[in-house]
Amino acid sequence: MLNVKLDTASESIKINKRASRYAIAFVATTTYFGIAAPLCAQELHLEGLRTEYQQNPVGVDTRVPRMSWRILAARRGTMQSAYEIRVATDSGSLQRAPLWDSGKLQSMASILRPYGGPALHSGARYYWQARVWDESGRASPWSAPAFWETGLLERADWSARWITPDLVEDTTRANPSPMLRREFTVSRDISSARLYVTSLGLNAMELNGQRVGDGLFRPGWTSYDKRLQYDTYDVTALLRPGVNALGATLGDGWYRGHLGFEGKRNNYGKRLGLFAQLVVRYADGRTQIVGTDEQWKASTGPILMSDIYDGETYDARLEKSGWSRAGYDDRAWHGVRQLDRPTASLVAPVSRPVRRMQELKPVRILHTPAGETVFDLGQNMVGWVRLTVSGPAGTVVRLRHAEVLDKAGNFYTENLRDAAEIVSYTLKGGGSEVYEPHFTFQGFRYVAIDGFPGTPTLDAITGIVLYSDLTSTGTFETSNPLVNQLQHNIVWGQRGNFLDIPTDCPQRDERLGWTGDAQVFSPTAAFNMDVSGFFAKWLADVAADETPDGAVPWVIPDVLGRSNAGMAASAGWSDVAVIVPWTMYQAYGDTSVLVRQYASMRAWVEYERAQAGDSLLWKKGFHFGDWLAFQTTRADYPGATTDKDLIATAYFAHSTDLLARAAGVLGRGEDARNYRALFERIRGAFQREYVTATGRLTSNTQTAYVLALDFDLLPNSLRPDAARRLSEDVRKMGHLTTGFLGTPALTRMLSENGYLEDAYRLLLNEDYPSWLYEVRHGATTVWERWDGQKPDSTFQESSMNSFNHYAYGAVGDWMYRVVAGLNIDPAQPGYKHVVLRPQPGGGFTYATASLQTPYGEAASGWKLDGNRLRITALIPANTSATVHLPGARVEQVRENGSALPSTSGVTRATQSGDTVVVEAGSGNYEFVYDAPALAARVRGGAKATTR
Ligand code: BGC
Repeated sequence: MLNVKLDTASESIKINKRASRYAIAFVATTTYFGIAAPLCAQELHLEGLRTEYQQNPVGVDTRVPRMSWRILAARRGTMQSAYEIRVATDSGSLQRAPLWDSGKLQSMASILRPYGGPALHSGARYYWQARVWDESGRASPWSAPAFWETGLLERADWSARWITPDLVEDTTRANPSPMLRREFTVSRDISSARLYVTSLGLNAMELNGQRVGDGLFRPGWTSYDKRLQYDTYDVTALLRPGVNALGATLGDGWYRGHLGFEGKRNNYGKRLGLFAQLVVRYADGRTQIVGTDEQWKASTGPILMSDIYDGETYDARLEKSGWSRAGYDDRAWHGVRQLDRPTASLVAPVSRPVRRMQELKPVRILHTPAGETVFDLGQNMVGWVRLTVSGPAGTVVRLRHAEVLDKAGNFYTENLRDAAEIVSYTLKGGGSEVYEPHFTFQGFRYVAIDGFPGTPTLDAITGIVLYSDLTSTGTFETSNPLVNQLQHNIVWGQRGNFLDIPTDCPQRDERLGWTGDAQVFSPTAAFNMDVSGFFAKWLADVAADETPDGAVPWVIPDVLGRSNAGMAASAGWSDVAVIVPWTMYQAYGDTSVLVRQYASMRAWVEYERAQAGDSLLWKKGFHFGDWLAFQTTRADYPGATTDKDLIATAYFAHSTDLLARAAGVLGRGEDARNYRALFERIRGAFQREYVTATGRLTSNTQTAYVLALDFDLLPNSLRPDAARRLSEDVRKMGHLTTGFLGTPALTRMLSENGYLEDAYRLLLNEDYPSWLYEVRHGATTVWERWDGQKPDSTFQESSMNSFNHYAYGAVGDWMYRVVAGLNIDPAQPGYKHVVLRPQPGGGFTYATASLQTPYGEAASGWKLDGNRLRITALIPANTSATVHLPGARVEQVRENGSALPSTSGVTRATQSGDTVVVEAGSGNYEFVYDAPALAARVRGGAKATTR
């Protein structure tokens, strides 16, 4: 069944937004796929001010925050030549009495500029603004002010005490969620109030009956024993003079709930805890602190069970109306006990919390052959269901969740393994009741309902989509609806699996921070969303959970605890410790991620070196290998098995290579030289062991060639040969044979080495195993296995068959970079210089991608109309680009009516084979020319891929 669904509404909003952005950004009127950009007088100004990646963050604990801005400029080719920042403790003093003024600094850097003023105070707000000068010395006006607010920078700033509800619990199973409350009195003339809070287990805070903040699953998931996040909330508006009440509901969450596929509970501890501190500041300068202490009271209420995997049991008859308001009678409540202070350090979040991001209405109600009533949300999603129901008190409505229906059309939950995903709601009666669960999430498209009073209609449920509130940064679209659906599936896979940490899957009893999956998907992730803070947070846990000898556990945070069993580290998985910091550095141009991770990166490479020993061939230990690669039952070809030791040595080399580069970036010259030399030696060892004299690899698989080419492990003379063998294998098999490790770079290695059409053929293949096979079978997310659902509609083994696993979505990186052409220049990371190199093919008539880079929006695209090719390029101010025009003759290209290179903004245009290479400054360009040979080849690609 084909299910192609495009967010056309949001696309058109995007395009309109883009048009209006141009109105500000560019005076030169051009068209972007037919959209005219009007003229505008705004010459040069700043917008998008961010402190440490966030807009006006509250609760920042770095002592040297860094500030970034985007430049909007009317003229093409705008570069910053200097900037000035000023910081003040109130916005009115920025001009008159700044706390710090950087002075005019000659610098082209417009992102991550460090604060350089006096030491910052805890819980204080700092306003800042900036102005810049362009390359010809013109100044922008001062930007509108932005601010950041510090968190509690010293342990001594906390006067609260850890408390735990004094309730009798059976910690061998799930317990009702405790509720904690305390009243307190405040006087008039409050100038500000902040609530600082963290917990062992999850917390949802209330103040005077109102929910505090809209973050969910707080304080998120970190390696709780080592790092515990606290949140800062501005609660000024929720307080009133007189008696107030604070309330907290606690959930088992990742701390002590059912977690991991071994059925374990209490991974971090048995007792839930709360640590909160309300700081009220008065106009006269007084401060009042209300912290967690023995005056709090505890009870349980309607949440009888709430568990990440298993769902929630809620009895609305047990609600305690008004419990977080002043005046509630809590005499029957229990007390609380002090809890030993956890050893973890308290840290402010650098990522965004999980929030309600979207709502989905069911598209239909089904009655299955087995007699179940099932809602279909039309999209495999992650979150929960909002139920709207009315009926007699005591009626129990049960919601079960599933990703798929089986061949017979029945509700299928076997692939959830031991995750129950059951939500049960008991009505209180007396009118319409609206309910959402609390400390659980489900991965599902279908919802089976029973016990509903009356006949449920489509209005009975709404899917609430939950994920980390990451700004969506990328768009990708082509003329091929199936490929667009693949992009949609990749994005939904990211939504479903970027729930506070990067997970493998969101539905079965796993949902863990599997390192391999995150490693292969991270480049794609950084196109689709701003994942800078998200990965910065998780990488801190990678470093925290690394063992003293440098082994990186399979999952982070490490709840599998295999570190001591010699099974902690697996090649391609644990290399996440080096690869993801490097990927983030490339995507965001932030060296601090390398600074923070360097020790962990180095320790991991040293671990690999110790494993490999003198031979430099890593042959020991347990490895997942090219997980889930193509298998057959054919007697003469059991499948594409790549030797695990070849993979392990290849990754050892690659991590060493990246470590050497990172050392170079950080100015660690000696390390850079040593690890470069080590890389060369591993490369030599690899060649001696795994490459024959004629350039054949000992594992003659696609994955082996992909890794050897991608990681630069072959002598230059043998690279063409290896690429040819790779292409031959693809053609011989007629499809990919790669697993988790070979797939990400497969298409890129083909296109980079002269086999672009093979890469397109793989992308467009609709038969198993391929990306579009899933799309053809109605997938709305990316599957874990190429044959999750087989051609005969039966399923793969239920013990491992997720329909929402992002790993194979790693092809998204190639789609952005090669199909649409939007590339990082590794020498100037963070898109300071962009390489726009679209490579048309596959019978498409257009492809386009855009990305909100740290400097502003960049876009790359092409459109073929007969033989006429239009290449569009959007280059943000204060960056430059190299634009490759394929199939072009320099004298034939026109840009905005002018020949090259005289068109404004273009500094150089050179012919290189059949490509024209253009150096351009910021601006919005459209290059037009006839490319008959290329057009014929692209159309031929269509023939080769249609059957
Ligand atoms: C997970 C993966 C993971 C793998 C290890 C699976 O159970 O879902 O995606 O990487 O185990 O090979």
